[in-house]
Amino acid sequence: MGIKFHEKEKQFHLYNSKISYCIGVCPDGEVGQLYFGKRINENQTVTYRQTRGIRPVCCNRQEDENYTKELSLLEYPAFGNGDFRNPAYEIRQKNGSRVTNLVYRSHEIYSGKKPIPGLPAAYTNSDDEAMTLEIECFDEIADIEVTLFYTIFENYPILCRHARIKNAGSEEITLTRALSCCIDLPDNEYNWIQFEGAWGRERYPAERSLSNGITSIESMRGHSSANYNPFVVIKRPNTDENAGDAFGLNFVYSGNFITQADADTYGKLRILMGINPRWFEWGLKSGEVFDTPEVIISYTSDGLNSLSQGIHHFMNNNLIRSAYKNKPRPILLNNWEATEMDFTEEKILKIAKKGKEAGVELFVLDDGWFGKRNDDYAGLGDWFVNTEKLPQGVKGLSEKINDLGLKFGIWIEPEMVNEDSDLFRAHPEWVLGAPDRPRTLGRHQMVLDFSKKEVVDNIYSQLYEVFSNASISYVKWDMNRSITECYSQGENASVQGTIYHKYILGVYDLYERLKKAFPDILFESCASGGSRFDAGIMYYAPQAWCSDDTDGHERVKIQYGTSYGYPVSTVGAHVSASPNLQTGRSMSITDRANIACFGTFGYELDLNEISDEEFETVKEQIVFMKEYRSLFQYGDLYRLSSPFEKNLAAWMVVSEDKKTAIAAVYKNLKSPNEGQQRIRLKGLKDDLVYSINGKENVYGDLLMNGGLSIPSGDDLWYMGDTDFTSRLYVLKAE
Ligand code: DGJ
Repeated sequence: MGIKFHEKEKQFHLYNSKISYCIGVCPDGEVGQLYFGKRINENQTVTYRQTRGIRPVCCNRQEDENYTKELSLLEYPAFGNGDFRNPAYEIRQKNGSRVTNLVYRSHEIYSGKKPIPGLPAAYTNSDDEAMTLEIECFDEIADIEVTLFYTIFENYPILCRHARIKNAGSEEITLTRALSCCIDLPDNEYNWIQFEGAWGRERYPAERSLSNGITSIESMRGHSSANYNPFVVIKRPNTDENAGDAFGLNFVYSGNFITQADADTYGKLRILMGINPRWFEWGLKSGEVFDTPEVIISYTSDGLNSLSQGIHHFMNNNLIRSAYKNKPRPILLNNWEATEMDFTEEKILKIAKKGKEAGVELFVLDDGWFGKRNDDYAGLGDWFVNTEKLPQGVKGLSEKINDLGLKFGIWIEPEMVNEDSDLFRAHPEWVLGAPDRPRTLGRHQMVLDFSKKEVVDNIYSQLYEVFSNASISYVKWDMNRSITECYSQGENASVQGTIYHKYILGVYDLYERLKKAFPDILFESCASGGSRFDAGIMYYAPQAWCSDDTDGHERVKIQYGTSYGYPVSTVGAHVSASPNLQTGRSMSITDRANIACFGTFGYELDLNEISDEEFETVKEQIVFMKEYRSLFQYGDLYRLSSPFEKNLAAWMVVSEDKKTAIAAVYKNLKSPNEGQQRIRLKGLKDDLVYSINGKENVYGDLLMNGGLSIPSGDDLWYMGDTDFTSRLYVLKAE
């Protein structure tokens, strides 16, 4: 790993064993992109850049007719100076001009990586894991300084980028666009994969080729959203899971975002990612700075499985911060689908007791324990216990749960308030809402104005009371509606364009304060399931409820799609009741667990209500999960067969030493008289002999090249009588 500076040519080469990222100072002083891809020799400089204006409509500076920005590959392009693509940033100056032009001034190279104030960001565990390049650029007319940050990591094919914009002049300026990165590539023969959906069907991969024009996804919901995830893959058309070039962009941010690919008519490609510029206006007074959130840029020349594995290990080691970092996650039992808000302490203890008998480690009390929360019309904002339900408070219940031998966790939704709450009655001015307009409700609730420090302070104090007075090991932080009428009451017109971003900064601030005060609590993020599943939130909450949809058939698709950009350790996955609450589909307890085990694993049902036979199966599942959860959560994941393409979906995890692996196959629809199929496994060692579920012994090379037979031996599950059946295969080698 290193960052080489070629002084004469003013070029920088950031490299590790897998990737090279080359940038340099263009003829007019702007920083340009030279090469991004597979590692090349760092001693060379790169000269293939085309900069010549070949037609009169291309605009050049008078002093250099051979150079036009329109044909250049740029690192942080401006608006209004001859580059007609979308810019990375835009600044309204006091005189009304939006034209800027950044030129290189200086740079600094150092070991390690600095945090970004107030924002989530990847970090190093020691300085020798990464090197950072800071390039300072300036616009002498507008008096603006922009610092571009690049960090290259030793052990991962990953580069992190963000930008810092400073008002170095005396007059106020306004940022109307401040994206995090631009990657200009010299050709546009790429496909784009976005991860899309809605509530209950989050992060389905959707691939399309990039033809001329702009391909764009975004969120304006105030959270990253289930509709479009802030993670995209750009790949060569023939790249598949096992071979070919691809790169990924994970936005380390949980609010409004935009990701764009502009394939221009000169055959180039511009990729942009950052805060959505719609309704973003950020004033900077003299000397003030604005930090954009970070983008994690990953690259592979070995196909999508390898791209995902790089991201998984990187996030587990360099993004997630928790006492549970790289540790097996507790097997939990959550009462939501068992009781919803209709519970008593007695009912809860009965459910928890049965969980303990099954081997569960943590009991989670979901929504309904506070204020007047008996339905979703009341209570949010009042974070004190409802003693009608829990006479001895959260403290009393948590102690009783602890006495059963279980840890205790609790649900909160701190960003929201109901009209019927003490908090709203006392502070109606603390909700977001446009003047003189009715507020749009979502699940009968309003959004607290987290851009106001006093609001965050109030919620912090309330939660501090709850967490410090009871025995709490886990917190599920929910968020059940998008932001509408984003307007901060009582504030000037001039700051209203900052509110969406300040809101997310308030969320991060509350997380940071609670994490600091309660470092041992395991946070799980949730937003009506998977509506805030992004790299930003994972910096605070190392796992996130992946979807409210726990139907096995649906979950395979959701978790399969999620796996492209996020590790298994982040995927909240539970076995829930059958028939399923969301789809009405019935499924065996084994099939439900065979999916949930590729996640943090838990149960979300009343175990008192299942048959004795099922309960015995649950006990076995928990013993199995305790033995293999580290492998599921931290092993190398390989996608083998896609549920979006085939009736038989499959994936597997492999241990670091390659001696243990677990493959899972999920058959979607039953069909009569099918032939035997083979799934070619991945990641094993050619010359190791693997036992399969303690029976057959087969060489790794045969399993990878010939494949695992489905069905295998005399196990005829495949001919089962229902749709959606599954099998796990545990492979072990000496
Ligand atoms: C939505 C979540 O996704 C559910 O798991 C549950 O916590 C409910 N909210 C509670 O209101």
